[in-house]
Amino acid sequence: YDLFMAAPQKDGSDQNFDYMFKLLIIGNSSVGKTSFLFRYADDSFTSAFVSTVGIDFKVKTVYKNDKRIKLQIWDTAGQERYRTITTAYYRGAMGFILMYDITNEESFGAVQDWSTQIKTYSWDNAQVILVGNKCDMDEERVVSVDNGRLLAEQLGFEFFETSAKDNINVKQTFERLVDIICDKMSDSLESDPAVTTGSPTARLTENPPPLQQPNCGC
Ligand code: GTP
Ligand code: MG
Repeated sequence: YDLFMAAPQKDGSDQNFDYMFKLLIIGNSSVGKTSFLFRYADDSFTSAFVSTVGIDFKVKTVYKNDKRIKLQIWDTAGQERYRTITTAYYRGAMGFILMYDITNEESFGAVQDWSTQIKTYSWDNAQVILVGNKCDMDEERVVSVDNGRLLAEQLGFEFFETSAKDNINVKQTFERLVDIICDKMSDSLESDPAVTTGSPTARLTENPPPLQQPNCGC
């Protein structure tokens, strides 16, 4: 499986972060997972469809309070034949973006199965956001916003409709996922007040915090 096991080393040896969150994007083929990641990481979009082979990832750093959070975002192939490879990556993931296409009933029908895959292969505390992508194609819509929201509620997931093409709710989805992972982390750290610092409601930004004045006595 050498071909498929993309190694994190391609990012270099940058250890310049406080936390590393591993996130996974899953869902049927052609729902727009790769496009969604390219929009977020590179602010680019292409209408050509190049189906993902196996798995790939991109890295993006975000800032919350004074903490640098490095996101390692894995883009999985939706095609069934890569399932064994992609599910091997579920284990260490802290967050999932489970995507369907609002113009494709079958991709919506598959959400339940994808959710079962998460429960089977991932960490119990992994956070999930359900995403209905391609909301720019409203004329071809076959899944209503209400049905999307309802399914998310039933599964206990948060919900966004997005467009990788028109850049709608892409950044918001990642920011919300990071926020709920952070909330979960501080919940589990609550028993140790020494490690819970900063306000839990602080907003996530892409801008580095101002440099702290070194607090030295010289
Ligand atoms: P696999 O890699 O096979 O699992 O597919 P994928 O989920 O990565 O889909 P991909 O991102 O390659 O997108 C499939 C097609 O949908 C491409 O032609 C994209 O240009 C198109 N597409 C993706 N997102 C959007 C969107 O938000 N709106 C519209 N109109 N088209 C989109
Ligand atoms: Mg893809």
